[in-house]
Amino acid sequence: MKLTSDQLRQFTADGFLFMPGLFHSDEIAALKARLPALLGQDGPETLRERGSDAVRSLIAPHLRDDIYRRLSQHPRLVEPARQILGGEVYPHQFKINAKEAQDGEIWHWHQDYRTWYEDDGMPEPEVITAAVFLDEVTEFNGPMMFIPGSHVDGRIDSDQGFERVPDYGRLSADAIGSPYCKETLNAMIRDKGIVAPKGPAGSTIFFDGCTVHGSVPNMSPWDRAMVFSSLNRVENHIRKPTRPDFLALQDFTPLVSLSDDCLTAV
Ligand code: SIN
Ligand code: MN
Repeated sequence: MKLTSDQLRQFTADGFLFMPGLFHSDEIAALKARLPALLGQDGPETLRERGSDAVRSLIAPHLRDDIYRRLSQHPRLVEPARQILGGEVYPHQFKINAKEAQDGEIWHWHQDYRTWYEDDGMPEPEVITAAVFLDEVTEFNGPMMFIPGSHVDGRIDSDQGFERVPDYGRLSADAIGSPYCKETLNAMIRDKGIVAPKGPAGSTIFFDGCTVHGSVPNMSPWDRAMVFSSLNRVENHIRKPTRPDFLALQDFTPLVSLSDDCLTAV
């Protein structure tokens, strides 16, 4: 699947591109069918919400589940990433955020690339993420929010007073908040605004590693599960990972994309 020049222009200008209904309902059904079993697993790859058993993130399910492996190689994700980044890509991180009804917690405003630069030694922000909706996303169940154009100046250093959280603590809801102070965020948001893409399950957001984003807690009775596939240019592979390798993947082999019907032709 090739992005049009208008779509590429929009990605470049905004730092994200929303594609409603990119995956069809039978493809999403195949992915969702595996969710209860995957979310029921315990182990270091299962991160929970603060003070509850609800799963916050399930890291690297593509390494132990065949349908998620196929999604990680899906041409509708891999080809736009190659096109945007201008080269071969490999998964730097692959995860499911469950954002469960009533239990799904906040994700503070952040840039992914700042973490990947500091914690994993990723040289350049030549990395994008595809977020695939496994549920319908509405204004009620904690949609992702983006500050359009916040990627243009690249990596933004954390503001003074932000303490580094060792290991993968910053992926948990106990992480101490945004690396940016209120004044920095307010100035950016007043200038550029906020966009929260919403749409049916199967919709997908491609976003730049430097686009500032976050989400509010899910106070609704509706889950908001999303798969996040972060694709890095092969030459931009990480140099100094300090985290477990399921969080900063270290197989830099270029992804081979599968056929377009790989999720349903089993
Ligand atoms: C993330 O930024 O990694 C997750 C955001 C979300 O799930 O809303
Ligand atoms: Mn993020």
